[in-house]
Amino acid sequence: MDFNSTLQNIFPQADQIPAEYQLDAPVHQREYLSNGEMKSWEGQVHEVFSPICTQTEQGLQRVLIGSYPVCSEKEAQLSLDAAVAAYNNGRGEWPTMGVAERIHCVEQFTGKMIEQKEIIVKLIMWEIGKSFADSVKEFDRTVEYIYATIDSLKNLDRDSSGFDIVDGIAAQVRRSPLGVVLCMGPFNYPLNETFTTLIPALIMGNTILFKPPKFGTLLHYPLQEAFRDCFPKGVVNIIYGRGNTIVPGLMQSGKINVLTLIGSSKVANELKKQHPKVNRLRAVLGLDAKNAAIVTANADIELAVKETLTGSLSFNGQRCTALKIVWVHRSIADEFISQFNQAVAGLKFGMPWEKGVSLTPLPEPNKIEYLNACIEDAKAHGASVMNENGGSSAGSFFYPAVVYPVNKNMKLYHEEQFGPIVPVVSFDDLEETIEYLIEATHGQQVSIFSNNSSEVAALIDPLVNQVSRVNINTQCQRGPDVFPFTGRKDSAEGTLSVADAIRAFSIRSLVAFKMNSANKQLINEIVHQDTSNFLSTKFIF
Ligand code: G3H
Repeated sequence: MDFNSTLQNIFPQADQIPAEYQLDAPVHQREYLSNGEMKSWEGQVHEVFSPICTQTEQGLQRVLIGSYPVCSEKEAQLSLDAAVAAYNNGRGEWPTMGVAERIHCVEQFTGKMIEQKEIIVKLIMWEIGKSFADSVKEFDRTVEYIYATIDSLKNLDRDSSGFDIVDGIAAQVRRSPLGVVLCMGPFNYPLNETFTTLIPALIMGNTILFKPPKFGTLLHYPLQEAFRDCFPKGVVNIIYGRGNTIVPGLMQSGKINVLTLIGSSKVANELKKQHPKVNRLRAVLGLDAKNAAIVTANADIELAVKETLTGSLSFNGQRCTALKIVWVHRSIADEFISQFNQAVAGLKFGMPWEKGVSLTPLPEPNKIEYLNACIEDAKAHGASVMNENGGSSAGSFFYPAVVYPVNKNMKLYHEEQFGPIVPVVSFDDLEETIEYLIEATHGQQVSIFSNNSSEVAALIDPLVNQVSRVNINTQCQRGPDVFPFTGRKDSAEGTLSVADAIRAFSIRSLVAFKMNSANKQLINEIVHQDTSNFLSTKFIF
C-alpha cells in the first residue's frame, strides 16, 4: 500500500470508533452563562466539526460534534454590564469577600468540575484532536493547577495577616483585585491555559468575561452551571460570538481592566489599542514563540534527537513552547538528521484514542495548505524534505516533514509554523545562533544541547538576555507550573506561574496608620469585632 493510502486509512468508518471514546450525542449548546443565569439562545449557531474524519461515500469527512451560539455585540455588552455590576467599583460581594470564602467557592467549583471530567476529556479529544492520554493529562494538570493556586494564595494570605511597623507607621499589606478581566485562551490547551489565567483572576476577586477559544469551545459548556452555582451572580460570564465582532466593542467601552490572552501578538496588539484609557488597562499575555534548539558539535546526538523530537512534535508541534527551528552544527548535521528521521519514523500516527499515538489530525481547517506552502517556499529557496513521506497528508492529517537546509530567505526561518514541520539550519559558528535570537521577533525559550561546560556557559550569558528560559540538554516547556512562564519581545507580557499569576491579577493595597494610642484602639476594635474583610488578622489554616 502506498503511503497516501496508509494515511487515508488511519481514519475509521463511523462504526469502527470504539464505543468508550464516542460522544454519547453531539453537543448542541443553546444557552450560555451571563449575569448568573443560563440564558437561552435561539439565534445563529456555529457548527463544530472535529479534526477527526470518518470514511464516507463522499470521501473523508470531518465529524459534526455539536454547535454553539454565535451571539452578537448586544449579548456581549450585556455580559460586560453584568461583570461591571458584580464588581461594582470594588464594592461587590465578590471583590470584598474574605480570601477564605473565595477559596471555598473555588474549591466547590473544582469538585463540580471533577464530576464533569469524562465529558470534558472527550470533548478536548474530539474538538482539537489531542490524544486521549494527553487530554486526560490536560484535565488533571488543570485541577492540580487550581489546587496549587489555592495553596499559594493561602500562603500569601498567611504572610499578609499581620502588620509591619516601620518608622512609627503600622501597615497591613494585602492584595486586592483589579476589576473586570477579559479572558481568552488558546485552542491547543483550551482548558489548561485558559484556566491558568481565569482561575487566578477569579480567586483574587476580579469579575470575569470569558471567551472560549475558537476550537475547544464546547468543552466549556459542561462547566457553566458549576460557575453559576459556585460564584455570586455576574462574577463569571461566558461570551460567544465571532471575536472580531464582539471583542472590539468590549475593549472600546473602557470597562475592561485586564486583558488576558494566550494567543497571537497581532490580536493582542489590536485589542490593546482599542482601549480608550491605556494606563488603566493591564495585560497578561502569552503570545507567539519560535523557540530554537541549538545542537553544538559537542552534543550527545542521541539525547538531542530524543529531546528535540518531543520538543518539536508533541501534539503535532502545536505548543507555544514547541521547538520550531533546530540549529545543528554542520559537522554533525547529517548524523543528527539521519537519527532524527529514524525517530520520526518510529512515532505512531493515527486516531487520538489509539494507545501510544503521538501524531494526530489537526483542528485548523486551512492548516495543511499553510504547511504545504511553507514546504514549497523552502524548496524554492533550496531546501528539501529529508524524511521519508515527510509532508504527506490525507484529510486533516499531516505527516511531519524534516526540512533542511533552512535559511533566512524562507518562511520557516521566521514564521511560527505551529504544526508538524521541523526546520533544520546548519551553522559553523555559535555566533550565528546568537545573532538569530537577537534578530528574532520572539523571545520565549531556547534549548542548548552540548556536553561542554564552557561552551554552555558561554551561551547561557547572552541567551538569558534574549529569552526567558534557557534549557540545557532539555526540550523547551512551560512546566513545572511553579516555574515562571514568560517571554521577551512579542512572546509575552507579564509572568505566569502558580505564584506569579495571583500577583498578576491583583495589586497591593495597604491600610496604614500612625502608631498612637487612639489609632491602636481603633484598629484593635476593627480587628476584634471582625468588621472588615480586608483589615483582619485571621489566619487561614
Ligand atoms: O502552548 C503553550 C503551552 O504553555 C505549553 O505548555 O510546554 O507544558 O506543553 P507545555
